[in-house]
Amino acid sequence: MSPFIASTILLTAEDIQRRIVELAREIERDHPGDVEIHLVCVLKGGFMFLADLIRRMQARLTIDFIATSSYAKGTTSSGEVRLLKDLDTALEGRHVVIVEDIVDTGLTLMYLQDILRARAPRTLRTACLLSKPERRQVDVMIDYIGFTIEDKFVVGYGLDFDQQFRNLPYIAILGES
Ligand code: IMP
Repeated sequence: MSPFIASTILLTAEDIQRRIVELAREIERDHPGDVEIHLVCVLKGGFMFLADLIRRMQARLTIDFIATSSYAKGTTSSGEVRLLKDLDTALEGRHVVIVEDIVDTGLTLMYLQDILRARAPRTLRTACLLSKPERRQVDVMIDYIGFTIEDKFVVGYGLDFDQQFRNLPYIAILGES
């Protein structure tokens, strides 16, 4: 048995859903007219956020998935980012929104923005559900932030610790039992 538990609820399922409605509206407002929005979900943590976000959008949209690894062990990342799974389709001329679970040091997002920008999308924006600004190592641009949180390791709603807790419908601080 793991000694770790999802101890304190930081954001309830209702908090998250309420904010996602607003984020969906903001994203659509920034893509006026009949443009198609191409959402690029960062696996694995972003899957639940993407699924709920697109159900709140009425715009024409398409989705794709990308996966990175930061060689993370435990609750801190080593700073090295590599691509584990690339996109299925090209980005040239498209209106792209990266959909991330959390921006911590910012290294993953910086890496992703660099490689995706090189593929010549018409626009490139980023939506992240959570941001931990205290931990930032690079100054990365985020267009849509769900919640700004303090420097605590959180799990649930797609976010894991050692691949556990992704199924929780809320976000909790990781603690010891
Ligand atoms: P960054 O490159 O340091 O910004 O970290 C990005 C990745 O680290 C995220 O996409 C998450 O997978 C993971 N991560 C960072 N903080 C947390 C956390 O509090 N809980 C779970 N995963 C996290």
